[in-house]
Amino acid sequence: MITGQHAGLLHGADYNYEQWLNSKDLLDNDLLYMREAGINVLAVGIFSWSLLESDEGVYNFGWLDECFERLYQNGQKIILATPSGSKPAWLSEKYPEVCQVTANGIRQTHGGRHNHCRSSVKYREACVRINTRLAERYGTHPALILWHVSNEYNGMHCYCPQCLAAFRSWLKKRYETLDALNAAWYTAFWSHHFTAWEQIYPADPSIHGLMLDWQRFISDQTIDFFLAETEPLRRITPGIPITTNFQMPDVGLDFHKFARHLDIISWDNYPEWHNSPDDGPVALKAAFFHDLSRSYLGKPFLMMESSPGATNWQGVSKKKKKGMHVLSSIQAVAHGSDSVQYFQWRQSRGGAEKFHDAVITHFGADDTRIFREVAETGSLLKKLSALAGTATEVQAAVVYDFQNGWALDNAQLPRSIEKNYQKECIAQYGAFWKAGISCDVISPEYSDFERYRLIVFPMLYMLSEKTAEKIRSFVRQGGVAVATYLTGMVNESDLCYLGGTPGNLTDVFGLAVEETETIAGYETQEFLMNGHNWKASHYADRIRLRGGAQVLAVFTADTEELPAVTANEYEKGTAYYLCTRTEQTFMDRFYRELCEKHGVQACVPWEIPAGVSVRERGGVLFVMNFNCREIKVLSGENVYTNLLNGETVSGTVSLQPYGVAILADKSDSGEKKSKAQNNPE
Ligand code: GLA
Ligand code: ZN
Repeated sequence: MITGQHAGLLHGADYNYEQWLNSKDLLDNDLLYMREAGINVLAVGIFSWSLLESDEGVYNFGWLDECFERLYQNGQKIILATPSGSKPAWLSEKYPEVCQVTANGIRQTHGGRHNHCRSSVKYREACVRINTRLAERYGTHPALILWHVSNEYNGMHCYCPQCLAAFRSWLKKRYETLDALNAAWYTAFWSHHFTAWEQIYPADPSIHGLMLDWQRFISDQTIDFFLAETEPLRRITPGIPITTNFQMPDVGLDFHKFARHLDIISWDNYPEWHNSPDDGPVALKAAFFHDLSRSYLGKPFLMMESSPGATNWQGVSKKKKKGMHVLSSIQAVAHGSDSVQYFQWRQSRGGAEKFHDAVITHFGADDTRIFREVAETGSLLKKLSALAGTATEVQAAVVYDFQNGWALDNAQLPRSIEKNYQKECIAQYGAFWKAGISCDVISPEYSDFERYRLIVFPMLYMLSEKTAEKIRSFVRQGGVAVATYLTGMVNESDLCYLGGTPGNLTDVFGLAVEETETIAGYETQEFLMNGHNWKASHYADRIRLRGGAQVLAVFTADTEELPAVTANEYEKGTAYYLCTRTEQTFMDRFYRELCEKHGVQACVPWEIPAGVSVRERGGVLFVMNFNCREIKVLSGENVYTNLLNGETVSGTVSLQPYGVAILADKSDSGEKKSKAQNNPE
């Protein structure tokens, strides 16, 4: 594990050395400034192909050799990228097949980035060649700790002949016969029967099974491309771990599936801080993505990129207010990141991102506000170095499934606006985040359910028979499952379950949904629970109880008293069902009570004020204030040391606006609690 090789947490940045080859004085300054900022790792070569290979087979590694040597002598580690994220012009000119083709058959012109064809034999060959050279040349360099394969793979569609042929082979493997394919895609509808594989063209949004399989293929083909790219790295440098920097989901790739091929997860975190008066929801979303990143492989990850200041690609990109840089960096660590890294070290002088902030801005000094905050983060990370590799005990999880998101996007439901799959998953997860209850964000397919006490399945519209069985056995053995409206409506081929939903699980939940009513924006629907009327919106299931399910809440806007929330004891466990979309305050209370009832513990017994997040990692408590005002949190009788300043904290934790406290229990005399196990790797 990288953190084993490199003691402590990583603090680093993308270093685009090649942009400054004619400015030796600035390159010299970089070395000094890196030491000042506590930078210990740099990611190099990410978009360097046209400089590394100026024509087919014409290599120029001199500048990269120099970069490696200078960083190494300066005490920094190196993450080396493969350059496939952006292709050189000579390659597109010589082999036009490397450029993607649009759905109406037009080959794109050269330019931009992240837009190569993933099936192109020529592109794959060219990548293998340059990657082989990189592995042979730098694989044994003592500064190299990790491969950064390509950059931010995405799910862009290419309709070139090679992609179409690959898609049809993928379909043949999946279905074997056209009869099976026609049945799975329900092609009797609108006369869509296919009688030859060549007739299949993946641009017909009226065939949902086709579109879903096309999306799956794009994702699989991207993974296949990644594997082709990494083959020489695995072969020549078996000791160097491999990552690729995932983007914020959802970009059309199944990251749960992709993750299985990485040694270390890394991702690029760009929350839109200060874009609205309340940063709480922004912090919640970032927390969800961090927890998703940790959950992919169930171990610490790297935050490969973040902006030390503002981005330049949001409608309005705000600078981080005082405190926010340290706070947002520490948030990543609190959720399991072993690094804080930036895009980028030195702000580009030209190009599309010349107004994106960097550690060294155009101003060019080490006493800027941004630089000082980066340096402060650097010294903080040093103090927290013992956290590297540590884990958190987690008892609850929310299922977030990329393929389900694609199926929901395709679905033309009676209410198709504001389906908001990701947003709703984040809202359910939010109840745990607010209460200081650690929560994983897991895959229905790859994750092991038995590790958890409580799992939430929000809007799991597409439910495979296999997942249904996993849920059944989870509840049977004592687990607590919560499902919502729109769960289990279709199988993995996007064919509706007959006889009531959630498909294959009506006995587990003790109910069958007869129909789902839509609630229009102007309508008011409410349900009564615990003596309180809660708002319901968007969807409302009309259910029939089956077996002994208990009704916990009823809708009140209609004369019929229809169930809104139910609970069913199934063997050793309990299955709850939320028939409607609820307001956040309901979820906050519902999950808090559920956790209390079923023994899922928060990391502290405190009342946590709005906009404050408390996380435990490696036996240390992170208390983070995302409010723009000072907050005092009542922290009980325990005596803590604030690792930030060595102060003793007892009774009250005082947090500055965007402030953070990192608390070690004093009764442990500074030692880490044994509660959190060290990651075995
Ligand atoms: C992404 C990319 C970087 C850069 C940043 C800017 O994460 O990987 O190359 O474009 O965004 O925010
Ligand atoms: Zn293609």
